[in-house]
Amino acid sequence: MTDVVAFPQNRTCPYHPPTGYDPLREERPLSRVTLWDGREVWLVTGHQAARALLADQRLSTDSTQPDFPIPTERAAAVRRRRRAALLGRDDPEHNAQRRLLIPSFTVRRTEHLRPRIQATVDRLIDAMEAAGPPSELVGDFALPVPSIVICDLLGVPYEDHDFFEEQSRRLLRGPTSADTEDAINQLEGYLGDLIDRKRHSPGDGVIDDLVERQRQDGTPDRYELVQLATILLVAGHETTANMISLGTYTLLRHPERLAQLRADPALLPTAVEELLRFLSIADGMLRVAREDVPVGDEVIRAGDGVVFSTSLINRDTSAYSEPDSLDWDRSPRHHLAFGYGIHQCLGQNLARTELEIALGTLLRRLPGLALAAPVEDIPFKPGDTIQGMLELPVTW
Ligand code: HEM
Repeated sequence: MTDVVAFPQNRTCPYHPPTGYDPLREERPLSRVTLWDGREVWLVTGHQAARALLADQRLSTDSTQPDFPIPTERAAAVRRRRRAALLGRDDPEHNAQRRLLIPSFTVRRTEHLRPRIQATVDRLIDAMEAAGPPSELVGDFALPVPSIVICDLLGVPYEDHDFFEEQSRRLLRGPTSADTEDAINQLEGYLGDLIDRKRHSPGDGVIDDLVERQRQDGTPDRYELVQLATILLVAGHETTANMISLGTYTLLRHPERLAQLRADPALLPTAVEELLRFLSIADGMLRVAREDVPVGDEVIRAGDGVVFSTSLINRDTSAYSEPDSLDWDRSPRHHLAFGYGIHQCLGQNLARTELEIALGTLLRRLPGLALAAPVEDIPFKPGDTIQGMLELPVTW
């Protein structure tokens, strides 16, 4: 048995799990780790155990339960007081909310957005070309793509996307928990007003679909509708932005893989899937046990916190050979980068489409794309449950 390891830790290299987790790789499928508040929780690191536990309804996502594991001090105040729609609900409440949204996230609905996503991506690259090189890819490209797409999908006026970017940034990166709380209040206030306006002048977004449904049978009520819109906005924004920025950085640091992709763009869907596995940017799914759950020789006791390390799960040698290498020849489809079970990412079709278009177009239109600063000067996110680049200076 090794000493208890702290979670989360800073990555040493932005595309590999922190080296501080190395001892846990020997201990699969689960270990004890300590959180910032000194609490010991279970960290699930084995692929098979993760699938079984994420499908197990004895584990809850209700963050207002006192024993729920909170990974950072900044997140603590908000999570303890508020339960997000969907991700913070257990079945049957969760299922009722998810059913409201499923029609808006089918592969067909997502494909319908493809030309609009392509136009957005092209417009942003036009602007980069007009102003540069160099360019700061996070602010000029990686953040605006999902922000504009999400506003479009939800039916939020394009003029307001700056406001959304700012609030999402404060929500996920704001230095204090007061920032986080205020950002949520601002988003909820804005979305409440927007919903009221849409009752009189409907459009064609997901919020409009929900407003119409509410008009017909009264569900969801206004607050639930605001909460659903908020989680969609937040869940689909920073995650996708970080995949675009870290995905680009990773490709630039793997010239052979990049050359293969440029030579054969048909590899793109596989490459996106492998990047999702390899980067595992949502590195820390959170649960609390409501009952005892035996796992092999161990028992997760009722009240125990359970955290899933996606980066270690997706590099489990029993699921992938040579998991630490980026490889377009493997079939990584069963990775858990989008989670598993009832909370598996609702926006995964949309995220895949965005990533294919964003990364594919960037490589095609800027064939000389390269880092514009020494690797050691490029800042990436500190240890948290969403990984990515803080800035990415590029040239072409
Ligand atoms: C590459 C980008 C993305 C990644 C890596 C990602 C990752 C994840 C993960 C790991 C979960 C499960 C969390 C858990 O079980 O604790 C999740 C859930 C969720 N994601 Fe995503 N996501 C991405 C993009 C998006 C997008 C674009 C949207 C929507 C527009 C979205 C909406 C959601 C929602 C609503 C949930 C909660 C589902 C539920 O509780 O039923 N995500 N995502």
